[in-house]
Amino acid sequence: MTKHVVNSQPQAVLSPEIKSKMRQLPVFFIALSLMLWSCGPEQAPILRFDHAAVVSAHPLASEVGASILKAGGNAVDAAVGVHFALAVVFPQAGNIGGGGFLVTRDEHGAAHSIDFREKAPAAAFREMYLDEFGEVIPDLSWKGHLAVGVPGSVAGMWAAHDSLGSLPWADLLQPAIDLAALGFALTAKEAEALNEKIDRFRTYNTRPALWWEKDVWQAGDSIHLPDLARTLSYIRDLGPAGFYQGPVADSMIAEMQRGQGIMTHEDLLAYDAQWREPLRGSYRDCEVISMGPPSSGGVALLQLLELVEPFPLSSYGFHSAEAVHLMVEAERRVYADRAKHLGDPDFWPVPVAGLLQPAYLQERMKSFSENAATPSDSIFAGNPLVLESTETTHYSIIDAQGRAVSVTTTLNGGYGSGVLVGGAGFFLNNEMDDFSAKPGVPNAYGLLGAEANAIEPGKRMLSSMTPTIVTRHDSLLMVVGTPGGSTIITSVFQNIINIVDFNMGMNVSVSAPRFHHQWRPDQIDYEKDAFDPKVIQVLENMGHKLSIRGPIGRVDAILVLPGGSLSPGADPRGDDWSSGY
Ligand code: GLY
Repeated sequence: MTKHVVNSQPQAVLSPEIKSKMRQLPVFFIALSLMLWSCGPEQAPILRFDHAAVVSAHPLASEVGASILKAGGNAVDAAVGVHFALAVVFPQAGNIGGGGFLVTRDEHGAAHSIDFREKAPAAAFREMYLDEFGEVIPDLSWKGHLAVGVPGSVAGMWAAHDSLGSLPWADLLQPAIDLAALGFALTAKEAEALNEKIDRFRTYNTRPALWWEKDVWQAGDSIHLPDLARTLSYIRDLGPAGFYQGPVADSMIAEMQRGQGIMTHEDLLAYDAQWREPLRGSYRDCEVISMGPPSSGGVALLQLLELVEPFPLSSYGFHSAEAVHLMVEAERRVYADRAKHLGDPDFWPVPVAGLLQPAYLQERMKSFSENAATPSDSIFAGNPLVLESTETTHYSIIDAQGRAVSVTTTLNGGYGSGVLVGGAGFFLNNEMDDFSAKPGVPNAYGLLGAEANAIEPGKRMLSSMTPTIVTRHDSLLMVVGTPGGSTIITSVFQNIINIVDFNMGMNVSVSAPRFHHQWRPDQIDYEKDAFDPKVIQVLENMGHKLSIRGPIGRVDAILVLPGGSLSPGADPRGDDWSSGY
């Protein structure tokens, strides 16, 4: 028996009223899609929902989630619906050919997390991206078939639903199938993202597919994806066996063979999603629950919060020179640790408890000066005690019972490797680039790695994804996360500080300009209008280098207001959208 048999979980029985509501969804989605195309997807800030809320990267996916919640589904049911809907309407990062992490907390405070990160195929080896001189071959881990890790999303969604879902799996898949089969209109931002990748699609694919039929995509273009609808129907009817076995698996492996990829049927059959203990730490009067290894996100976030907690950030002021300097100094120390100590805990003894020990973190800040930048060249990873073993997307959900779900999922780069599984209609990830191809050589996000994150067969590559849930006095306060590669951790960090220290509303917080430092390169990246020119001057006088850049992250979050209503924050940097009731 393989790990992906359809399970025999009793399926909830839907009332005729709920069934009829779910049946009306396709007509509603087509109408909404056309409305969004004609008026643009920008959403005026929604300030609150009384019962339940979903925030995701695409209006149609958020509406799928809200319709499941209204039909009596819980937050995990809604997550399954949103996940598969994003795989259709948001192909740059929504996926079934990628992976991610889910963190959930129920209304009684019990928290769980699922690791459905991709794995290296069995034929992967440490030097697979190096030439005969030991140098990294550009793009080999980033584009095309060799960049693909074994996908985890279908197994992850199944694991979540199997234990915590309440509505039938098939009903949760159906909205995504309807969107793929009946069609939807392209948003301007998705058209722009596609146009940047058409050449790559043509280079790495040999089978015809809609995405490279045209030279230029435009907002409002009508998208029908019958191959993807058929693939999703197999998953609806057979669960993970409809993906990791049978015709869809055959198509994936045939695609690998066409492009000299190394993933095999055995790799697909061996894939398993893992339940892992989420990390829990405190920040001021809050508890922060986040994802542990093989994501670096939770460890790094808790380290950052612990490093800044002794300082009076709220009296420094939002984006004041003092606040930015302090946060950047914490970031450079934490990213130095990340590069050395973080990797897949099934392959490397990640010293999580040591990295989070207060005494260790106090030691890390001993070289902090309030007046001067510490050059990254003088910062190295610490020696914690071993006490134990950019284009991504995030969605946040809270249901009427108070269960929260925080999921960050990715193909890695936009449209992943650019390889679309011929005949099956979905893109495969380029997650192999998140391994350290060679110590000291940065990956696509400029991140460095070492032994802990070296390539090994069956190993999960290190991630920065940081799906997070924050509570205050044991009550749910916030669900938060973002895409953004290496900037994910610092974007979540800033949003927690915006809420806890600067008392912002959720919409203001996700919209606020952001900055980022990752130890190397030794510079503060910042968004346009993030800093007053006088603040830039003070930071430069302290010895910081600053570099303006494009958008940092797309934070989708929900804040629970005093009294219990839900205030969503859909990041205006994308098509992100909140829905609920
Ligand atoms: N692929 C980006 C990450 O996992 O951090």
